[in-house]
Amino acid sequence: FTVYVPRDASALSLGAEATASAIAAEAARRGIDVTLVRNGSRGLYWLEPMVEVATPEGRVAFGPVQADDVASLFDADFLHGGKHALALGPTEQIPYLAKQERLTFARVGIVDPRSLDDYRAHGGYRGLDNALAMKPADIVQAVTDSGLRGRGGAAFPTGIKWKTCHDAGADQKYIVCNADEGDSGTFADRMLMEGDPFVLVEGMTIAGLAVGATQGYIYLRCEYPHARDALNAAIASAEAEGYLGADLRGSGKAFQLEVRMAASAYICGEETSLLESLEGKRGMVRFKPPLPAIEGLFGKPTVINNVVTLCSVPGILDQGAAHYRDFGMGRSRGTLPFQLAGNLKHPGLVEKAFGVTLKELVKDFGGGTATGKPMKTVQLGGPLGAYIPPSRYDTPMDYEAFAAIGGMIGHGGLVAFDDSVDMAAMARYAMEFCAIESCGKCTPCRIGSTRGVEVIDRMRANVERDRNEALLRDLCQTMLHGSLCALGGMAPFPVLSALDHYPEDFARTA
Ligand code: NAI
Ligand code: SF4
Repeated sequence: FTVYVPRDASALSLGAEATASAIAAEAARRGIDVTLVRNGSRGLYWLEPMVEVATPEGRVAFGPVQADDVASLFDADFLHGGKHALALGPTEQIPYLAKQERLTFARVGIVDPRSLDDYRAHGGYRGLDNALAMKPADIVQAVTDSGLRGRGGAAFPTGIKWKTCHDAGADQKYIVCNADEGDSGTFADRMLMEGDPFVLVEGMTIAGLAVGATQGYIYLRCEYPHARDALNAAIASAEAEGYLGADLRGSGKAFQLEVRMAASAYICGEETSLLESLEGKRGMVRFKPPLPAIEGLFGKPTVINNVVTLCSVPGILDQGAAHYRDFGMGRSRGTLPFQLAGNLKHPGLVEKAFGVTLKELVKDFGGGTATGKPMKTVQLGGPLGAYIPPSRYDTPMDYEAFAAIGGMIGHGGLVAFDDSVDMAAMARYAMEFCAIESCGKCTPCRIGSTRGVEVIDRMRANVERDRNEALLRDLCQTMLHGSLCALGGMAPFPVLSALDHYPEDFARTA
C-alpha cells in the first residue's frame, strides 16, 4: 500500500510527523506492508495532516489525521476504503480542489518532491527539453506571448524583463529567484518549493537558456528550512542526471544553481536590497535605474523573478503560450495561486484563473469567518495591501480592476478579519511595521513611518482628531510619492483604506 503524508511545513506544524510515524508503527505492528510517501500539501490546510491512500480508482483522503486517530483508521480498514469519520472521499473530488485550475501547482501534493523520476512521470522537464531545441529569443517570445506577469506582486510582464536581459551584452549574466517570501498571509512560494522543487529548478534553467545566464541563485528566507532541504535535494538529483551543470542534457549549454539563505530582513525581498545581500553586503535599497536586468548582481545583467513566476514557465514551454494565455481576463492572463489566510473556516491555497471574485474566494472557498461573526474586511496583497470592504467583494481578480478601486492583488495573499478588528489599530500596525522594517535610506519612509504611528495614536486618543487626520493624509501622500521603494511607497495603502472605509474606528470628539 502507498500512503501519502505531507512533509509540508504547515502540515508538520499540525502534527504530520507524528501521524507519519504512527502509521509506520501501526502498519509494522499489524504486519501490513506500507510505503510512506512524504508529499507536499494539497493546500487544504484545515484538513491537515491530510493522509491519502493510493487505490486502483485514484487517491482517497482522510483528514485531519492526528497520531491518535491512526489505530482507528487501521481498525476501519482504511487502506481498503473502509468507512471512517475522517474519510473525505476521492481527493480530486473534494470541491475545494475540484473547483480549482491548477497549472503552476499541477503537481504539488501529488508527486514525491524528492523523486526526479516522479517529476518526469508527471510532465516534468518537457518544457526544458523544448527550450533546449529553441533559440533564446524564441523562448523569450513564448514567455511574452503567454502574458505571464511577475507574480511577486508588481505584475511586470516577464517576457519584457527577460528581453531586456537577453538584449544586454555581457560576459556573465545571472538568474536570481526571489524566495524571500516575507508578506504576512503568503505561503505559495513555500508550498511550491517544498511540494515540487524541481519545477523551480527547471524554470530557472529555462530562464538561463533564454537570457544567456549560466549561474542561478535562489535567495531563500531562512525561516524555510524544509524548502531549503527540498531544493538542495532537487538540485543534487538534477546535477546527477544532467539537468544542471556544464552540459545540460548533452546540449553543450551550461547552467548551475545554488541556494543562498537570507537573514530575515523584510526589505531584502525588495529586489535591489536582495542583490546587495546576495553580494554579502547590508540589505539597502539601490537607486533604479540602472535596472537589475541591465546591471544587477555584481553589476551584471540579472533576471530576478519570484518563485511562482519561475515555476509557471515550464508549463508554458511544455503546453504552449496560448494554453496559458487562454486563462484569465483583460491583461491578467493565466492563473494566480490565491492564499487564503486569517479568520476563515477553510484557509488554504486556491489556484484560479484571473477573473474569480474576492467573494468567491472568501465565501465559496474560504467558507466565511472561522469565528462565525460577520466579515469586516480583507487585506489583499500582503501587509502593504489595501483593506477591501465587503461592498467591493464583487471585484474580479484582475490587476487593473483592483488598481482602479485603490487596491492591489500583489502576490495573491489575502487575510480576512471579522467585525472584532479595530481598523485604527491595523493602520497603526502598518506604520509601525514600516518603521521597523525600513532600511533607512530615504526620509519619507524612515521618519514618516514613525511620525505616522504618533499621529494615529493622537487620533485614537481623540487629540485634535480632524487636524491629525489631515496631517496623516498629508504624510501618506509624501510617503506614496517620495519614497524610494515600495515599502515606504505602499505603507499608506492599508492606512488610507482603513481611514476611508472604516472612519468610525478612528476615535472622534464627542
Ligand atoms: P517595480 O514595478 O519597480 O518593478 C517590477 C519589476 O520589473 C522589477 O523587477 C523591475 O526591475 C522590473 N522592470 C521594470 N521596468 C523594466 C524594464 N523596462 N525592463 C526590465 N525590467 C523592468 O516593482 P518592485 O519595487 O520590484 O516591486 C514592488 C512590488 O513588490 C509591490 O507591488 C508589491 O506587491 C510587491 N511586494 C511583494 C512582497 C512579497 O513578499 N512577495 C513583499 C513586498 C512587496
Ligand atoms: Fe529604505 Fe523605506 Fe526608502 Fe525603501 S522606502 S529605500 S525601505 S527607507
